[in-house]
Amino acid sequence: MTLSRRLLLRAAAAMLSSTASLGAAFAQTSLPPTPSCDDGDDPTPQQTAGPFFKPRSPQRQSLIEPGMGGTRIALTGMVLTRTCRPVPNALLDLWQADARGNYDNRGFRLRGHQFTDAQGRYRFETIVPGRYPGRTPHLHLRVQAKGRPILTTQLYFPGEAGNTGDGLFDPALLMRTQPAAGGIEAKYDFVLAMR
Ligand SMILES: [Fe+2]
Repeated sequence: MTLSRRLLLRAAAAMLSSTASLGAAFAQTSLPPTPSCDDGDDPTPQQTAGPFFKPRSPQRQSLIEPGMGGTRIALTGMVLTRTCRPVPNALLDLWQADARGNYDNRGFRLRGHQFTDAQGRYRFETIVPGRYPGRTPHLHLRVQAKGRPILTTQLYFPGEAGNTGDGLFDPALLMRTQPAAGGIEAKYDFVLAMR
């Protein structure tokens, strides 16, 4: 074996072991998994709609408007049945507070709906909502397969100081988030109570 080949192999082995330890560190600190098809029968928990839902929101993936403040967030995921089947054409309606914790009750700012694609996927582009009295930051959603009951729920942000003091907070509704260019990326898969 030539010297350079041996060095190369040693470098590869070192890289593998550091990857393994990174993986182990990540596994120790990672969040509890969001409810998804791999843990079986648990549909996404229902939560109150609260007082600010408005019907007939515009159909759109991006709720961001010019001049809107706040940290950008790209929220993606799937709508699944309890048996892991993706639900195409499922309705997702999102409404939320702005970065200062205020809802737009006159218009449709930070409100929008869309339908999952043929693979059951969705994507919203929005901002991280602010806190308002009594509530940790959260997104409100209604999710519905065509002709089926509506799942009304809320999603939460990991690491928010206000989570523990909010009586509605449910760790099963934590998004998985990571920093991304210009903001954060978040993931959440909804599981509907259907097979
Ligand atoms: Fe709210």
